[in-house]
Amino acid sequence: MAENRAFYITTPIYYVNDVPHIGHAYTTIAADAMARYKRMCGYDVMFATGTDEHGQKIQQAASSRGLSPQKLVDSVVVNFKKLWERLFITNTDFIRTTEERHIRVVQWIFSRLLEKGDIYLGSYEGWYCVPCETYFTESQAAEGMKCPDCGRPLEKMTEESYFFRMSGYQEPLLDYYEKNPDAIMPKTRYNEVLSFIRSGLRDQSISRTTVKWGVPVPGDEKHVIYVWFDALINYLTACGFPGDDAKVGKFWPTVNHIMAKDIIRFHCIVWPAMLLALGVNPPKRVFSHGWWTVEGDKMSKSKGNVVDPFEMADLYGVDAFRYFLLREIPFGSDGDFSEAALVQRINSDLANDLGNLLNRTLQMVKNFTEGRIPEPGELQDHDKSLRDLAEKTLEEYKEAMDVYAFDEALKSAWTLIRRGNKYIDETMPWKLGREKNIERLGTVLYTLQEVLRLSALLVAPVMPETALRIWGQLGIEGDPSKRLFDEYAWGDRAPGTPTGEKEVLFPRIDLKEWEAEKAQRDARKGLQPDPGEHEEEITIDDFRKIELRVAKITSVEAVPKADKLYKIHLDLGYERRTIVSGIREAYTPEDLEGMRIIVICNLKPATIRGVQSKGMLLAAETPDGEGLALLTVDRDIPLGARVR
Ligand code: MSP
Repeated sequence: MAENRAFYITTPIYYVNDVPHIGHAYTTIAADAMARYKRMCGYDVMFATGTDEHGQKIQQAASSRGLSPQKLVDSVVVNFKKLWERLFITNTDFIRTTEERHIRVVQWIFSRLLEKGDIYLGSYEGWYCVPCETYFTESQAAEGMKCPDCGRPLEKMTEESYFFRMSGYQEPLLDYYEKNPDAIMPKTRYNEVLSFIRSGLRDQSISRTTVKWGVPVPGDEKHVIYVWFDALINYLTACGFPGDDAKVGKFWPTVNHIMAKDIIRFHCIVWPAMLLALGVNPPKRVFSHGWWTVEGDKMSKSKGNVVDPFEMADLYGVDAFRYFLLREIPFGSDGDFSEAALVQRINSDLANDLGNLLNRTLQMVKNFTEGRIPEPGELQDHDKSLRDLAEKTLEEYKEAMDVYAFDEALKSAWTLIRRGNKYIDETMPWKLGREKNIERLGTVLYTLQEVLRLSALLVAPVMPETALRIWGQLGIEGDPSKRLFDEYAWGDRAPGTPTGEKEVLFPRIDLKEWEAEKAQRDARKGLQPDPGEHEEEITIDDFRKIELRVAKITSVEAVPKADKLYKIHLDLGYERRTIVSGIREAYTPEDLEGMRIIVICNLKPATIRGVQSKGMLLAAETPDGEGLALLTVDRDIPLGARVR
């Protein structure tokens, strides 16, 4: 049977409750480098990424921003799409779980497994936080069975739920993994997953009646399908399942799922069990890479240390950023991101090693051979050993790439590049030029440009733009990313061809200037000093005692002999009243009239400068009292509406 030269690679589909960061960028860049590599090995590559848009997290993120879930996902998905474009990602599909094509497949699979008896209706028992609408397990609950998020007491609840009969797949899964020891990489993850399966698998609850934003269970629409059951299926939807038998037959048996270790149980246990239940092969490979911290710390929004990939690309260039992520740590190990380490790699590997080799070679071709590729003479031992190293490097590089060892593959490319620089020092082509030793000079320069021609191919999957620029400067037509490694043969370059325009590939970064610029950037991003004026903790019941409502300002008068005070007339819908407020320096009566503001309605009335004030408006103020802003509502809502 002819070899199937197809390759299907996926990233996780990312949650859209937040903006993309370097963690997302890392997985997607790695998958892209692999997709590009496989194309250059002659494979027909399908590369799917996308977004996970259903479920409670999204529902909550939307409601906290006052948006409908669909509005929220439609706006956030744009950031992901833009980022992948910016980072030169060559995905062939972008799948969103809210798309009709996906919803249809999820419902089809659900019905199929229900019919087969692998899905059944049962009841789910757990600890539930009513205000947060979330279940927690006993071990997740805070002390005293309180909600770990809001601290309120959890209630034991029983809810009707559909279950996936995962317990029935313990043995088939073990059997599959024993026969396919490469199905999970690296090995540590394989062992971890197997021991988890051996410890026993329980049926999984796969529907919710408490969440609205999801794929409805066909025929029982008070349930929506649990977000993970829905999300995992994206990999089949993108592959044309069910229906496109040709696509499924060609690509599914080759599928490689890439992700971090946080979600391997879903991918190595739940997902293959679902596939076995469907009668479809489990994924050929799941590769779990490591976790990035930032400057030694876990990345988190509250710490303000989330690295923005757009910013990194703007500051350092897309290729340098891609190179750093894949070169710095073995794929599979954890790593720490720091801009200082990125700058260090740019200066040493990219500017000093690769950039210099190209620059020196082209300068000599310009000086000594009229900017044209010279005719090589007979190879001496020195040249032969560099040629042999180039050929060996290509083999080592492919072996490493085949097992996702991006760092090893790049290391072997750099061994060749560094050896190239050393070869210049040893052969001293400038001396050969001065001595008019044209034949020897031709051999040396030809050898160097062959090393560079190959280096461009080797860096192409990781640094596609750099590869193209190297070829352009060498005067080679076309894009190295569109070529095949197998077509490369030493000595194929035609002598006499003119080289292209010489330009600096990676300018060296001056460390002193960089440090100063970074310090300024950090200060701009920095947090404001703590205002210091914090109140005692209150309970939700304390807060509930404050009756806040929406009111419209109907008219405003100055309070005589009090230059800071206004007498403000309000319409609460059900009642009209007057308050006195000290906001005269910040607002004119015209600014205020018609504005809808928030008022404390049950504040004890007070007489201020002879005017009775019934309530108080709410405003935000800076610690120095200079800045003042009134609280308003962001959309139409009836007057008198309660603020909680
Ligand atoms: N929506 C699910 C995945 C469903 S797939 C059927 C999800 N989304 S996520 O947005 O949280 O993305 C998790 C993935 O993002 C990780 O598995 C990893 O690929 C990537 N990373 C997120 N943060 C990361 C780091 N700090 N370091 C490395 N990768 C990280 O889970």
